[in-house]
Amino acid sequence: MHDPSVFRSMHRERFEAEPAIFVAPGRVNLIGEHTDYAEGFVMPAAINFATLAGISPRNDGRIVVYSENYGEQRVFSAVELPGKGIGHWSDYPMGVAAVLAGEGHTIPPFSLTLWGDVPLGSGLSSSAAIEVATAFALLSLIGTAYPGPVLARLCQRAENEFVGASCGIMDQFISVNGRENHALLLDCRDLSFKLAPIPADVALVIANTMVKHSVAGGDYKTRRGESEAACAVIASHRPGVRFLRDATLEDLEQWGHEMDSKSLLRARHIISENLRTVAAAEALCKGDLEKLGRLMAEAHWSYSRDFEASCVEADAMVELAQDLPGLIGARLTGGGFGGCTVNLVEQESAGQFAEALGKRYAERVGIEPQIHICQAASGAHRVE
Ligand code: GLA
Repeated sequence: MHDPSVFRSMHRERFEAEPAIFVAPGRVNLIGEHTDYAEGFVMPAAINFATLAGISPRNDGRIVVYSENYGEQRVFSAVELPGKGIGHWSDYPMGVAAVLAGEGHTIPPFSLTLWGDVPLGSGLSSSAAIEVATAFALLSLIGTAYPGPVLARLCQRAENEFVGASCGIMDQFISVNGRENHALLLDCRDLSFKLAPIPADVALVIANTMVKHSVAGGDYKTRRGESEAACAVIASHRPGVRFLRDATLEDLEQWGHEMDSKSLLRARHIISENLRTVAAAEALCKGDLEKLGRLMAEAHWSYSRDFEASCVEADAMVELAQDLPGLIGARLTGGGFGGCTVNLVEQESAGQFAEALGKRYAERVGIEPQIHICQAASGAHRVE
């Protein structure tokens, strides 16, 4: 995370006002991909890459947002908030302001500085971190608060309704509710969760393929549509099935022939991924790391072959990790089509693992990857 005292002076110099500072983390998902919008299970952890949001009130009726990452400032009227995003970084903070206004809050004029070290567009939820940090900042200025799950829903709505990306709840939820040294098994149906401790001798090694990914891009939406089409076929026979969460592999055997072939594959991924995710959480809680690793490998290939959401580079990153000493499990994490792999690695081998993987990947793919050894961090909070 960037240094909050440097951040404080940055805001002070630009806006001549003392900011209240909040931090919201990015995340890595250990398992459970494209299951959240099907009301299924996911198992993410918040990470020690985060966005800082500094806020101070203004008295000129304006909202001024500045991003240190983009080196750019935007000005809006606090009384006439934009209704929709324009494909710009400011959509994320302004989307949050618009959703809170829609909830009946009067949005006061404010200055906001944003500065993050979550790699952008790499499947580590840089956008959720911005939304959640902004929401914490803005709510403190308004003088109110929401329970974590409700706040996560509001931030998800900013992304769905304002930014126009049809994401599920996972990223915003974990950014709000993450716990140090833990992953969360989240039930995306009722937002109940169980903590799964990550043992102290296990490292989270995150390997960035450097291939860009975007949830706002078309592929995410296409996959979601294909899987929902499969669900509709099952629901026409079993009306109790509202989401793929309710469906079984037997349903696919019985009615799969009525689906187009892509939809059948997408559904097979989601239904089997839900089973793997619950089993993986159990394995992690019991300390059965071998089983966890096996489930992560199965999840990767299901994501790559059935869901077709991987890419050559991510498949290579997973393959190249397989025989490195210390590996417990590896898979592509996040929305897909590029981004990062998550590798669970024995802590004592993590440094060498990261170095060897980086070298192998550069040789094979011809791209220099970024590899980070991370910790599971706590969710969003105020920084004193
Ligand atoms: C993105 C979305 C999430 C989730 C994942 C895939 O990160 O924002 O809601 O659907 O992709 O698991």
